[in-house]
Amino acid sequence: MKDNRTQFATRLGVIATTVGSAVGLGNIWRFPYEAGVHGGGAFLIIDLFFIFIIGVPVVCAEFIIGRHTGSNIRGAFRALAPGKPWGLVSYIGLAASVLILSFYSVVAGWTMHYTVKSAGGFTARMTADALHAQFDTFASSDVLPVVWTLVFLAVNYFILSRGVRKGIERMSNILMPMLFVILLLFTVNSLTMPGAAEGMRFLFMPDFSAITPSVVLGAMGQAFFSLSLGLGCLITYSSYFKRDTPLLRTSLITAGLDTLVAILAGIIIFPAVFTFGQEPAAGPKLVFEVLPSIFANMSGGAVWSTLFFLLLFLASLTSTISMAEITIAYFEEEFGMSRKTATALSIGIAMTLGMLCALSFGALDGIKIFGMTLFDLFDYTSSNILLPVGGMIISVFVGWVLDRSVVKGELTAGGGRITAMGVRCVVFCLRWLAPVCIGLVFLYGLGVV
Ligand code: TRP
Repeated sequence: MKDNRTQFATRLGVIATTVGSAVGLGNIWRFPYEAGVHGGGAFLIIDLFFIFIIGVPVVCAEFIIGRHTGSNIRGAFRALAPGKPWGLVSYIGLAASVLILSFYSVVAGWTMHYTVKSAGGFTARMTADALHAQFDTFASSDVLPVVWTLVFLAVNYFILSRGVRKGIERMSNILMPMLFVILLLFTVNSLTMPGAAEGMRFLFMPDFSAITPSVVLGAMGQAFFSLSLGLGCLITYSSYFKRDTPLLRTSLITAGLDTLVAILAGIIIFPAVFTFGQEPAAGPKLVFEVLPSIFANMSGGAVWSTLFFLLLFLASLTSTISMAEITIAYFEEEFGMSRKTATALSIGIAMTLGMLCALSFGALDGIKIFGMTLFDLFDYTSSNILLPVGGMIISVFVGWVLDRSVVKGELTAGGGRITAMGVRCVVFCLRWLAPVCIGLVFLYGLGVV
């Protein structure tokens, strides 16, 4: 490992950046709508299984690779398996991170638009139907969504070009505590609503009849997406960890807080949905169509609405900077680019593809590949295919190929207080459980078997 490489300055920074990467639209926008469509509690249970039994060990695997090599994802595999085809997984990671960054930025752009609109009090003057129509009109228009996507990515450029410590770490240290405060405010408010009990029942009472193989694949994709897993994002971040950062503990804290935020988002959204007689299975539009009509009926609705979309925006930002960092570190280290050039290139690619995604709800909605718009195609291929495949390769690599002493050394470094039994459990998951589960779910979910 190179001695002069940047590292996160503090332990708090490690947690804030890693949790910041994990907590995002995946928790606050995607989890509630997926749970809403797929039977609430049942989806939650499957999601928890994938996060803690499969997800945590694979998070450790990424941490082990990243910290041990202290390198971008291409360099990491080159160092660990020179001349072997394992390194090809880094190209999956690079491609997927660009695809995800592109469509994710479109939704993040929507959150910025809605923050500004809410601050102007737009919900107060509108009926529920008008608010529903408003979102469709906005998302399918040609200019505004594109502009907001570009603005959002420009903010990313601004932070990322300042570097790992001054940009990423400092930003996360400020934003993550803010995010938790806003979340708690909403949770308290939501629990006092008349529909709270019904909302809780929906979220926590499992209805297993809604579970099909494609739902299980969806839950696995959700768990991976939510943990930022499978494409080297955590390899990249952990390459900035110090030698004494305890990896297992960090992965458990990340998974724990990530799950907590998803559950809190459910606790915030479903009581409101039931209180105001809305539909929990509204899908991707849940947050943008259903919530504003709820805010319109609340006292102080404009303030709540502004805060909510601000929360989504902040959560998105700490996630997208982690996606972009994958390609930035790659361009910097593999091609010797300066931080600024590497950032401009990464963000430039995302801006180009992001514009196309933004337009796929309107001007380009006729362009369908495999029956999907560009936005859906990017989302589906990256979350349901590239993430699980990447995750499987990473777990097989660390479980079977990587020297056991490296795995053990990394897991126990820095007083990681993990027993020999603990190490064996992690290795067992990586060797057998994760690959077999991922493989089965994957083949079933795609309808191959
Ligand atoms: N985990 C983030 C969320 O839940 C999204 C994310 C950030 C991500 N970095 C990633 C997803 C890398 C996959 C891979 O919103």
